[in-house]
Amino acid sequence: MTVDGKVTTRNFSPVDFTSREDKLHLFGQRALADAVLIGHSTLKRDNVRLGLPQGELRERRTKRRQTAYPIRVIVSNKGKIDNRLKIFQSDFSPIVIFSTKRMPRKYQQALQKVAALHLSDAQDVDLAAMLRTLRDKYKVRTVACEGGPLLFRGLLERGLIDQLNLTIAPYMFGGANAPTLTGLSKEFLPASVHCALIDMRVVGEECFLTYRIKHARRRSK
Ligand SMILES: NC(=O)c1ccc[n+]([C@@H]2O[C@H](COP(=O)([O-])OP(=O)(O)OC[C@H]3O[C@@H](n4cnc5c(N)ncnc54)[C@H](OP(=O)(O)O)[C@@H]3O)[C@@H](O)[C@H]2O)c1
Repeated sequence: MTVDGKVTTRNFSPVDFTSREDKLHLFGQRALADAVLIGHSTLKRDNVRLGLPQGELRERRTKRRQTAYPIRVIVSNKGKIDNRLKIFQSDFSPIVIFSTKRMPRKYQQALQKVAALHLSDAQDVDLAAMLRTLRDKYKVRTVACEGGPLLFRGLLERGLIDQLNLTIAPYMFGGANAPTLTGLSKEFLPASVHCALIDMRVVGEECFLTYRIKHARRRSK
């Protein structure tokens, strides 16, 4: 995020205001996880594949007895996910979509050819249930959530975040319509979330912070 707490511009343009070091840091975090999780808007806007570069990160995964790549998980309530997005053009790891029966049939037919669909009857995806399914059905123990803000806030409100990796980049954007880490909502979080700073690293003009989220309520049903 920027110095003034923004994670994108008011146009929600693809994010490219951090250094190469930060991108390597993102890959490093992604490479630790069994699954990488992304919200529909971020997927659509940034059109990412959610892969890993060749080399050490993947070799270390193999040594840890993980699959070569994390499985890729997309969250969407409405389910209108375009099957021409880049993520669907690469099959290096399974793609799992959590959505609802609101997903139009046309999209269901197209997406079930390229991803496993989990469609719930409820209006919205139950994020805790999603994590349970990932654990029980896909043997996922660690999830790296790459945002965006709406998804992050949803997980945070439900006490489902353990750790936050935050890079502060040397810019300020201003503007009430550019989202912060927790989105654009004017509502307060149900309770303030206490973060414990466990690591801080300065590289060039950026600051790499690692927080452990305190009081995270665990739902281990
Ligand atoms: N600076 C950074 O590190 C960073 C990181 C990530 C993203 N971003 C930026 O953030 C912007 C996108 O922000 P955003 O808040 O709109 O992103 P988002 O959280 O990726 O996407 C929101 C959409 O994802 C789905 N979604 C989110 N939470 C959900 C939940 N609890 N249950 C079911 N579906 C859920 C919904 O999809 P449907 O509408 O399909 O129902 C929702 O409209 C982009 O510009 C992106 O570049 C920045």
